[in-house]
Amino acid sequence: MAEGFRLIAAADRGWAIGRNGRMLVQIPKERQLFLAETRGAAVVMGRKTFDALPGRQPLYDRENIVLSRDPGFAPRGVRVFRSFEEALAFLQTLPPEKVFIIGGESIFRQFLPWCATADITAVDYRYDGDSFLPALDRDPSWKLLHESEEETYFDLPFTFQRYIRIRADRIR
Ligand SMILES: NC(=O)c1ccc[n+]([C@@H]2O[C@H](COP(=O)([O-])OP(=O)(O)OC[C@H]3O[C@@H](n4cnc5c(N)ncnc54)[C@H](OP(=O)(O)O)[C@@H]3O)[C@@H](O)[C@H]2O)c1
Repeated sequence: MAEGFRLIAAADRGWAIGRNGRMLVQIPKERQLFLAETRGAAVVMGRKTFDALPGRQPLYDRENIVLSRDPGFAPRGVRVFRSFEEALAFLQTLPPEKVFIIGGESIFRQFLPWCATADITAVDYRYDGDSFLPALDRDPSWKLLHESEEETYFDLPFTFQRYIRIRADRIR
């Protein structure tokens, strides 16, 4: 596998990831896997995603890295970076498999070129979303490596997909 960060997200059929600052749906099994996968690692998010965490508290047992241009933004227990370049310089000092890019849209778009894998909870439904991931299934730099059997959350079908980068053009 190419060296690079790990993107982790839940997306609908049209690659929507959120609406009005919130997730589209919370699937308990996805949440459990997310927490297990990212434990002990760095999780990288935008300020809006941080603000939507329960109680605006950092995720426990992991290094919370938040990007914000607001000089007044300095929550306890969070490492804040004011620019993409500053954050990237720090993240490149960490083992790449220990760096998870967790959203939202603006963070996914900026860090995607530095990601080697993308673990997508693919929800088979089309929501009226307003935030999106780039469509990895239409991006020639990415390939679907594996997809789980379909599962359901109540009547909502979903699968777990693993995409890998097959063109390592921007990964350092
Ligand atoms: N489905 C999923 O897996 C998933 C995961 C996470 C989030 N989401 C959804 O994504 C949506 C939020 O996405 P979003 O794009 O609106 O917000 P976001 O990426 O969470 O946060 C955007 C904020 O991050 C900061 N930021 C971004 N780039 C920066 C840079 N280069 N330098 C400094 N600061 C930077 C800015 O904060 P300041 O304004 O403070 O400067 C910006 O306003 C929500 O609906 C959320 O639920 C979905």
